[in-house]
Amino acid sequence: WSMLSEDIDAIIALKKSRNAVILAHNYQTPDIFHCVADIVGDSLALAREAMHVQADVIVLAGVHFMAETAKLLNPSKTVLIPDRGAGCSLADSITPEDVRLLRQKYPGVPIVTYVNTSAAVKAESDICCTSGNAKAVIESLGVERVIMLPDEYLARNIAAETKVKVITWTGHCEVHERFTAEEVRQLRENHPGVVVLAHPECPPDVLAEADFAGSTAAMSSYVASKRPPRVVLLTECSMSDNVAIQYPDLEFIRPCNLCPHMKTITLGNIRHALETMQHQVTIDDSVAARARLAVERMLAVT
Ligand code: 13P
Ligand code: SF4
Repeated sequence: WSMLSEDIDAIIALKKSRNAVILAHNYQTPDIFHCVADIVGDSLALAREAMHVQADVIVLAGVHFMAETAKLLNPSKTVLIPDRGAGCSLADSITPEDVRLLRQKYPGVPIVTYVNTSAAVKAESDICCTSGNAKAVIESLGVERVIMLPDEYLARNIAAETKVKVITWTGHCEVHERFTAEEVRQLRENHPGVVVLAHPECPPDVLAEADFAGSTAAMSSYVASKRPPRVVLLTECSMSDNVAIQYPDLEFIRPCNLCPHMKTITLGNIRHALETMQHQVTIDDSVAARARLAVERMLAVT
């Protein structure tokens, strides 16, 4: 604990001296989420908040695509990612060339790209979305058909909620693809009355067994407003840890699928990032303007 509190004290002092803020995703561990973060939230909230940051430096406690989005929205600020290797299986599942080929194959069909992609992939798309606004973004386009990249399950889950036809890609989140419908049935048997909340990156048959599906922020809001006495969040492990701290009277069942990329971020490397001002996120000029446009179009919808 003394090492932990030493890191926390150092980070708080460094935030002041560097005029920095820490944006942390809901999957960050409780020490980061509750002790040093200034702004916490889902991917959509982090993108939105990034637009209003006044500080000179943003430390993104999350994965690389989130840091890129913050940089796109704050080109003149320094954006730091504490571990350059904090990737994402979805972002790795598609290249800009793949997107260009899809555009050729489906001329005139708008391309909606999940924020869990590189800036170079965003630059090839028409508009971005997150799990929190995907349906609204797709319906805002006023077309019969869209291409939605790269998460196959998110695309299929959203397609089930709208009349718009959705062409999908084959990317999966390595955390959420591991949940199964059988696991949900077992959970209900072993924990009678449990309310099951699932992230829309889970396979469609998992969502069919759940009581509610939504982004990490939507799951938090569900718990805050409905206060289910016994609840399970089918998503990354730290999410339940962070929410459970706020509701000690509720019982959280915790099957745990860990995101190795999110877990590369620690108090130690956040401190190191602020001490050394590394690793600075840069985005190639050839893609930055087009990628920014896709993110800004999304933020204008929701
Ligand atoms: P949201 O927080 O936007 O729901 O995203 C989940 C996720 O897997 C981010 O990596
Ligand atoms: Fe990517 Fe899934 Fe990890 Fe989120 S949880 S960063 S979508 S691999």
